[in-house]
Amino acid sequence: MSTNNKEIFKNTPVDHEIHELIKNRWSPRTFSDKPVSHKELQVLFEAGRWAPSSNNIQPWNIVWGIKGSVAYDRIMSVLVEFNQNWAKNAPVLLLGVVDTKTPKGDDNYHAPHDLGQFAANMAIQAQSMGIAMHQMAGLDYEKARKEFKFPDTYHVATAIAVGYYGGELSDVPEKLQDAETGERSRKQQNDFVFNGDYRETGDVKE
Ligand SMILES: Cc1cc2nc3c(=O)[nH]c(=O)nc-3n(C[C@H](O)[C@H](O)[C@H](O)COP(=O)(O)O)c2cc1C
Repeated sequence: MSTNNKEIFKNTPVDHEIHELIKNRWSPRTFSDKPVSHKELQVLFEAGRWAPSSNNIQPWNIVWGIKGSVAYDRIMSVLVEFNQNWAKNAPVLLLGVVDTKTPKGDDNYHAPHDLGQFAANMAIQAQSMGIAMHQMAGLDYEKARKEFKFPDTYHVATAIAVGYYGGELSDVPEKLQDAETGERSRKQQNDFVFNGDYRETGDVKE
């Protein structure tokens, strides 16, 4: 097998045909050398900005850093080692941070949900531009919150590696190379879609 990872379109065995931007998106651990500009990042953040959120609170906050900058190195420093080992391939690193309180001071249980919608909007916009995103939960949340001076009530929920699809398989440790080329998989809809009580899948007549 060639070690060139640039042409990879992952096999995505959908059960129902879906939009190609959703179908072809995946989370690589290698990236092209092609830089992602600040302007392109602003386009991605704009896509996120127009995501829906509970009461339009928009609890999301983003920290961004482009490779070679102090901000990038600071984001890298809060990732767990496993993620550092491949995220170094990405030309951009982000942190997704939520305010866990509403403007009235109540708990905002929907904040992580809303950040997820922000990230999903970004990911689909990125896909339309040939840019990949790889989200990460593997980071030290508290260290990140303190590092970037967010208040105590904020939660650093995710880091995100961003870059053009590409790079070489040899850019990742050998044990991660299969994941770069393997088929994507998902649970069956019957496992999580219910037409009534939990586990009640219904008997849908076409
Ligand atoms: C919130 C979240 C946290 C994740 N955390 C990590 C992580 O710490 N490290 C990693 O390598 N991948 C991480 N992933 C990537 C998932 O493993 C990946 O999205 C999943 O396997 C599905 O693959 P796909 O995105 O290519 O379809 C995370 C994804 C999400 C959405």
